[in-house]
Amino acid sequence: MDSSKQRDNFRMKELSEAVGDMTVSLHFDRRLYKEDIRGSKAHVAMLARQGIITDDDNQKIRGGLTEIEVEIEEGSFPWRPELEDIHMNIERRLYEKIGETSGKLHTARSRNDQVSLDMRMFVKESCVQIQSLLIGLQRSLLDLAESNQQVVIPGYTHLQKAQPVLFAHHMLAYFEMFDRDCVRFGQTKDSADVMPLGSGALAGLPYDIDREYVAKELGFSRITANSMDAVSDRDFIIDFLSAAATCSMHLSRLAEEFILWSTEEFSMVNISDEYTTGSSIMPQKRNPDFAEIARGKTGRVFGNLIGFLTTMKGLPLTYNRDMQEDKESFFDSYDTLYSTLSAFIGMVDGLSVKDDEVRTSAEGGLLLATDIADYLVGKGLTFRESHYIVGQISNYVLSKDISFRDLTLEEYTDFSEIFEKDVYEISVHTSLNSRDVPGGTAANRVQDALRESRLRLESGRFE
Ligand code: ARG
Repeated sequence: MDSSKQRDNFRMKELSEAVGDMTVSLHFDRRLYKEDIRGSKAHVAMLARQGIITDDDNQKIRGGLTEIEVEIEEGSFPWRPELEDIHMNIERRLYEKIGETSGKLHTARSRNDQVSLDMRMFVKESCVQIQSLLIGLQRSLLDLAESNQQVVIPGYTHLQKAQPVLFAHHMLAYFEMFDRDCVRFGQTKDSADVMPLGSGALAGLPYDIDREYVAKELGFSRITANSMDAVSDRDFIIDFLSAAATCSMHLSRLAEEFILWSTEEFSMVNISDEYTTGSSIMPQKRNPDFAEIARGKTGRVFGNLIGFLTTMKGLPLTYNRDMQEDKESFFDSYDTLYSTLSAFIGMVDGLSVKDDEVRTSAEGGLLLATDIADYLVGKGLTFRESHYIVGQISNYVLSKDISFRDLTLEEYTDFSEIFEKDVYEISVHTSLNSRDVPGGTAANRVQDALRESRLRLESGRFE
């Protein structure tokens, strides 16, 4: 058998034609080339240090791998799908470059620990990328909040106008969500930050290897504790998919707010033209397409999580080929989140608040009902009594299509003798500023929160 045949002879027989391309992962796992090459270099350096291969072999292999990296980056690398995956493609090319010495690269290593290593490295870096986009989005939200500090909007529960809140307070709510997302991606990075090489196919290796050295070379903080777990653990992928799903859910909620707020009915914001499109038939329309697409993409990100959890659920230890499915799920969630976050930053930067319309909306209606109830509590009623009275007044106001401030004192006292003319002092501003509790919407509290959020953002705590 010639030696190139020997190299690819890890199959006993040719695969059935019906299997066709199904085993091939090259079209998606070629993205791992940098991690694969870095991992291989650290591995051979360790083998040489331990006297398992010679320094000369080490140099030759590393030189060949460097050339391969250049070829891939320049686009001249001869990809061979029939070799299935990125690992076999690189190893085969190394053989073409340096001959039999290439055969020493896979000493004390299996594709099972190798692919786990590559994915862990990729996931760690992806978490950093996503965190930096999240921080960018938080910065945009904070800028938007700061430049609209005086703006009062109706706050909603059940999508019914509830109580007035500062627009900045509303934006800071999203700041908190994305902050928790950053924490989750930090935890995901930590769960990927365990070096699996040295586990071999499943049982460990009969060589005097130095796992700690490889971990240090590749920037891992620790090594895996159990070889069987190491080659079959994909929790770090699931953690990523789950963090991505939660983050997408947050983005989708914000997208939904922007979609609603930009309608004529809400008339609260304008989405800049770069993030809207016209209709092919209705000339007046400016559709919030990007926000809708962002909301729509959430489905596939959730699907990737459920899909891959389902892939993993029936697998006995240790490695099973099913696990190759981790990559398409992961790359799809990563790419989707990456592009959505990038575009979201621009959309938030271009958002403008329709101050006048928003003020009218916040001042009208029944938004101050709770404040009137609290006023009656201040005059000695229990909250339940006052809740009942204000409920009656609200029905009355609604039936006459007026707002509270249009009521005469006589009308008020018809509902309760306790009302006095200081009831007219209740306004959107007294309402807001009475909510002077930590985490509340009073102007001074929101100012503190803006300051604290800015400090948190610039503290570099996710670096
Ligand atoms: N392409 C494979 C994967 O992504 C690499 C590991 C293959 N290991 C094996 N024993 N066939 O999972």
